[in-house]
Amino acid sequence: MATVGFLGVGGLASLLLRGLQGSGHRFVLSPRGAETAARLAAEFGCEVADSNQEVVDRAEAVFVSLPAATGADELARLTFRPGQPVLSAMAGTGLARLREVTGPARAVIGMMPGYANAYRLGPSILCPDDDFWRGFLAHIGPVHLFADERQFTAAATFGAFSGATVWWMAHLADWYAAQGIDPATARALVAGTLRGNAEVLLQEPRPLDEIARGVTTPGGITLQLLDHLDEKGALAAWHTGLEAILKRMSGGG
Ligand SMILES: NC(=O)c1ccc[n+]([C@@H]2O[C@H](COP(=O)([O-])OP(=O)(O)OC[C@H]3O[C@@H](n4cnc5c(N)ncnc54)[C@H](OP(=O)(O)O)[C@@H]3O)[C@@H](O)[C@H]2O)c1
Repeated sequence: MATVGFLGVGGLASLLLRGLQGSGHRFVLSPRGAETAARLAAEFGCEVADSNQEVVDRAEAVFVSLPAATGADELARLTFRPGQPVLSAMAGTGLARLREVTGPARAVIGMMPGYANAYRLGPSILCPDDDFWRGFLAHIGPVHLFADERQFTAAATFGAFSGATVWWMAHLADWYAAQGIDPATARALVAGTLRGNAEVLLQEPRPLDEIARGVTTPGGITLQLLDHLDEKGALAAWHTGLEAILKRMSGGG
């Protein structure tokens, strides 16, 4: 098992470190955000380096969770070893830019939902495949490999989709609670419904449209709600919203 460095110790790093407990890896953290770094060090037995360069020097592999807007510039100030495995989860930093700023390192890009990884249930995507990072990410959920960066970037919009569904679930739970249902029951009902349906999609061998037809009684309440959402543009808005995210992540918006 390896010593893995984390550059950028904020929300994502905290969640991943939680999920990575028991993976056997050791962790060395960047010092900025001293309070969070100290809390994570105490909670998960990580070490905190004195500088970002020290993280790179002490770690066999480096996970990058720096802010998307400034992270690549920070990486350009650091010196990596030839072949050192580096994985960036920074939204919108493509392979060419990452490799330019990490020099001789073996750099790849990835995306994951974050919170679900703390429960080892979050899918990760990785481009291109990398032995070290495939094994590392497998501790915190299923890993999907992409050889083609254009497809990876399209898939990486699921980071936004994932976060938006949490707000969507909260929005639905609020509606049930507003009908007088106990908020804890409303929350469990919404989450349990989606978990159950997610399992159906993961386990059923039938095509997706067949499953969808199977849950829709002609003239029934599912169809009524679906028609209403469609009429209001709610379904189309998921597509147009993701297209806008894809444009931004491809550097066009
Ligand atoms: N949140 C998620 O679930 C998620 C999921 C997938 C990917 N991502 C990606 O992961 C990255 C981090 O997201 P996040 O949500 O964890 O953001 P965050 O909570 O803001 O964490 C970023 C951390 O990096 C620190 N930082 C800033 N500049 C630094 C530098 N030069 N050296 C060392 N540390 C520095 C920040 O410190 P200060 O607060 O002092 O600036 C902060 O603690 C982003 O690029 C995002 O696209 C996030």
